Amino acid sequence: MPQITWLGHSTFSLTLATGEVIVIDPFIAGNPSFPTGYEFSRVDTILVTHGHGDHLSGVQGLAERFAPRVVANYEICNWLGAKGVQNTIPMNFGGTMLVGGVAVTMTPAVHSSAIEEPDGRNVYGGNPGGYVIRFDDGRAAYFAGDTDVFGDMALIRELHAPDLVVLPIGDVYTMSPRAAAVAARLLQPKVIIPAHYGTFPVLTGTPAQLQALVEATVWVLEPGVPVTW
Ligand code: NI
Ligand code: MN
Repeated sequence: MPQITWLGHSTFSLTLATGEVIVIDPFIAGNPSFPTGYEFSRVDTILVTHGHGDHLSGVQGLAERFAPRVVANYEICNWLGAKGVQNTIPMNFGGTMLVGGVAVTMTPAVHSSAIEEPDGRNVYGGNPGGYVIRFDDGRAAYFAGDTDVFGDMALIRELHAPDLVVLPIGDVYTMSPRAAAVAARLLQPKVIIPAHYGTFPVLTGTPAQLQALVEATVWVLEPGVPVTW
């Protein structure tokens, strides 16, 4: 029964029954929806979906503090390694690895992934992805990352049958609630957690718009307040 905490935008913290903590796409400094006063006390694993700053920028700070494993695509692992991050675990689409107490599969996403250096240069960040996380009770959760809906979500359903899916709904940089409803038709989850909305004014999609279009339960999480799944 993992505990899931939304930390605003696309940042999530999962706490397993063992106490192990998995952080997805840490965006801390500069994240307007990061919960005020929230403190990490332990990080065992970080999963990075792609190279954009609103998913990657918190990795180095957490890596310095907690020395977690960092799972990302090969190119992002190379970049992080050059910045001094140890324990990177490169993956690519379709691959599955046992990472601590969970099995992690990297999935494709329809997006982009360049890493922006402080001087404005864009460094190649490989392809954008998402993750299916299978817990020791057999259930799977799919974190789509930043993406549009794509037909191969039906393959993710066929291969992994995730009961819980985390979908971006903010529009403009990702799919909208209307497209997320199509994603839900392809993925057939029981529960949808919307993310990547409301952080900035341009991200206008809302969970209510999604809930009006789907039968699955849309869980609207409060940043910093854990839920048990
Ligand atoms: Ni992005
Ligand atoms: Mn993003």
